[in-house]
Amino acid sequence: MNNLFFLFFFLFLASAAASVPAHNITRMLAKHPGFSTFNHYLSLTHLAEEINRRQTITVLALDNAAMSSLLDKHLSLPTIKNVLSLHVLVDYFGAKKLHQINNSTTLVSSMFQATGSASGTAGYVNITNLKAGKVGFAAEDNDGSLHSFYVKSVQEMPYYISVLQISAAISSADAEAPTAAPSAIDLISIMSKQGCKAFADLLRGSKALPAFKENVDGGLTVFCPTDSAISGFAPKYKNLTEAQKVSLLLYHATPVYESLQMLKSSNGIMNTLATEGANKYDFTVKSEGEDVSLKTKVNTASIVGTLIDQDPFVAYKINRVLMPRELFKASDALDQAPAESPKPAKKKKNAKKGSEDSDAADAPADGPSDDSEDQKAADQDSNGVSGLHVRLVMVLFGLIMGFLVL
Ligand SMILES: *[C@@H]1O[C@H](CO)[C@@H](O)[C@H](O)[C@H]1NC(C)=O
Ligand SMILES: *[C@@H]1O[C@H](CO)[C@@H](O)[C@H](O)[C@H]1NC(C)=O
Ligand SMILES: *[C@@H]1O[C@H](CO)[C@@H](O)[C@H](O)[C@H]1NC(C)=O
Ligand SMILES: *[C@@H]1O[C@H](CO)[C@@H](O)[C@H](O)[C@H]1NC(C)=O
Ligand SMILES: *[C@@H]1O[C@H](CO)[C@@H](O)[C@H](O)[C@H]1NC(C)=O
Repeated sequence: MNNLFFLFFFLFLASAAASVPAHNITRMLAKHPGFSTFNHYLSLTHLAEEINRRQTITVLALDNAAMSSLLDKHLSLPTIKNVLSLHVLVDYFGAKKLHQINNSTTLVSSMFQATGSASGTAGYVNITNLKAGKVGFAAEDNDGSLHSFYVKSVQEMPYYISVLQISAAISSADAEAPTAAPSAIDLISIMSKQGCKAFADLLRGSKALPAFKENVDGGLTVFCPTDSAISGFAPKYKNLTEAQKVSLLLYHATPVYESLQMLKSSNGIMNTLATEGANKYDFTVKSEGEDVSLKTKVNTASIVGTLIDQDPFVAYKINRVLMPRELFKASDALDQAPAESPKPAKKKKNAKKGSEDSDAADAPADGPSDDSEDQKAADQDSNGVSGLHVRLVMVLFGLIMGFLVL
């Protein structure tokens, strides 16, 4: 009896301990000065955070010499991010598994594929076992040649993260294609085209616009209420003074880049462009599985879609106008227009592609598509959430059995 209890108690402890597989790629690579440039760029592009968040991952690391050849191409930072994200495989490959690939060749999805910046299957990496134990790497569309080769295993934590050195950056025309420089992004036209016209129109003539533009380079996340949310809110908006209108618009953006993954895993207070001083014009981010909601003291809005995600600028569609307590009372929210369902909205395919006017040229042609959102969701399931759930269930099971046996 007692033995059983201890067995379950031990299981419980073991599973609780197992729920902290936290790896920190920055710290792992810091022990290897030969990879300092690569490490630096993982942080600079925010890829490090994405890598740390995932639980089954392989990083194909480039030493300082290989990084220096890559940097010689003078790519912009967003483009470097695309290239490096091709070097992060969303599957675990230790040195052993790498040399035992079935049928000697395989295609593995990378983070470039998962973030939706890749066109088609350009985000897949071909791994091929060659003669004499050599292993070659290339982008999926590789013209029959493999230019990067396995060098050595840097560090392996089976089956969470493996860091393998390869000889040279995997070259890919798709990943190296220029991305729109952030400051060249025309916020107003992108928002207008992506179902955020009403909000863009309010912003266009407003004193709030410069603050949005000034932050695009350093990082900007915009929460854009849908057109129907704005039209339902119009009587209240008209009622505000000019200064209050500016504050309300500024309240819908935050001066940092927050990817959907980051929002999903960072519950808590978020300052906005309207924030001056502590506890002013902030709101709370709450995530539940795939759903992310924004709670002010007055009302709650949900993210229903992504308009554009081009680090360092990202814009989400939300189903209500956020009402800060600085401008509204709780009772003001009661008559708010019915909002769209908080389920992620299916965006129109190719909405941002194939436009003929000149504004469209500014809009990145390779923004996230429906598929990428689904892909993200799927990746999250296979890499994070489900693993956590399994451990939670194990912990609960251990507890319940422990008490039963007592
Ligand atoms: C990872 O390690 C770096 C360097 O030690 C540190 O600055 C960073 O905060 C760590 N990240 C996390 C999520 O712990
Ligand atoms: C090869 O196939 C076997 C059986 O189908 C599987 O267990 C193994 O994991 C595969 N190896 C790799 C590297 O995919
Ligand atoms: C290996 O290739 C053979 C023939 O092409 C195929 O039938 C088999 O399913 C492949 N095995 C794996 C594990 O992919
Ligand atoms: C990987 O690339 C090599 C060389 O181009 C090619 O022979 C092989 O078929 C590719 N593998 C896959 C799975 O596409
Ligand atoms: C406009 O403001 C007045 C005075 O503050 C208030 O009584 C009225 O209800 C407001 N109208 C709307 C539509 O919010």
